[in-house]
Amino acid sequence: MLKNLLTSILRCKAPAPQQAHADYPGKFTFAADGLQTVHNAGFLDDTRFRESYALGANSGHRICAPADLHIEWRVYICCWAAQHGLKLRGDFVECGVSTGIVSRAVAHYVDFGRQQKRYWLIDTFDGIPLQQASAAELSLARSKNDRHYYDCYPDVKAHFSRYGNVEVIKGRVPEILDNLDIAAVAFLHIDMNIAEPEVQAMRHFWDKLTPGAAVVFDDYASMAHQAQKAALDAFAASRGFAILSLPTGQGLALKN
Ligand SMILES: C[S@@+](CC[C@H](N)C(=O)[O-])C[C@H]1O[C@@H](n2cnc3c(N)ncnc32)[C@H](O)[C@@H]1O
Repeated sequence: MLKNLLTSILRCKAPAPQQAHADYPGKFTFAADGLQTVHNAGFLDDTRFRESYALGANSGHRICAPADLHIEWRVYICCWAAQHGLKLRGDFVECGVSTGIVSRAVAHYVDFGRQQKRYWLIDTFDGIPLQQASAAELSLARSKNDRHYYDCYPDVKAHFSRYGNVEVIKGRVPEILDNLDIAAVAFLHIDMNIAEPEVQAMRHFWDKLTPGAAVVFDDYASMAHQAQKAALDAFAASRGFAILSLPTGQGLALKN
C-alpha cells in the first residue's frame, strides 16, 4: 500500500516553471509558497526527497489538494536540518504537528525508525488555543482553527505506529512539556502559528539543545505572522543569538 501511495504521489507535478526575470537566462526552478527563484533546486528531483514530501503532502491536511500544496522548499529545509541533527546527541522535537506534513517527510527522509533517538510530536490536536492568541493574532488563529485543524490524533498515531521510536503527544505547549522526558534535543521544529507557545517552547528547549542543533521556525518570516517574529527575535536577543530569515518564510537558528 505504501508503495502504491508513493508511486501515485511521485507523479505529482512540480511547480510550473515560469519565465524568470529578464536578467536571467533560465526559467524559475521553483515558483510557489511565496518564493520564486532561478537557483538550483535539484532536491526536487531526488527520489528520497520526493517520497518523503509525498508522504507529508498526502497526510490528510485540509489546507488544499495535496498536489496544490507546493511547500517543497520548506520541507526540504526541515529534512536538511533533521539530517544534520542525526550526528548530534539528543532527540527530535516538533511543537505543532497537525497531520504531520513535515514530520512524516522528515521521518522517512532520515529513516527515523533506524535511529537511536526519539521523535516527539507535540500538538493539542484540537487547534490553536485561542486563549494564547494576542488580539492581533486572534482573527487568523480562529480562521485557521475553522478551516484547517481537526482531531487528526488517531491518524497521526496510526501513521507513526510503524516507528517504534516516535512519541505522539496530545497536549498543550507549554504545560505538557514538563511531563516529557526529553533531556537533549538535536532538531527542533516550531510551528504553532502564534507567538506565546512558540516563545514558551524556546524557553523550555533552548538549554536542552545540543550545540550545533538547528531550530526551524515555520512562520518566522511570514508576513501573516509578524507577531511571532517580533516575539522570537526578543527571545533570541535575550539569549544572545539571532534568527536567520529564510526566503521560504521560515526562520533558522543554530544552538551555539
Ligand atoms: C500549522 S499547524 C502545524 C503543521 C505541521 N507542522 C505540519 O507539518 O503539518 C499548527 C498546529 O499547532 C498546534 N498548536 C497551536 N498552539 C498549540 C499549543 N499551544 N500547544 C500545542 N499545539 C498547538 C495546532 O493544533 C496545529 O495543529
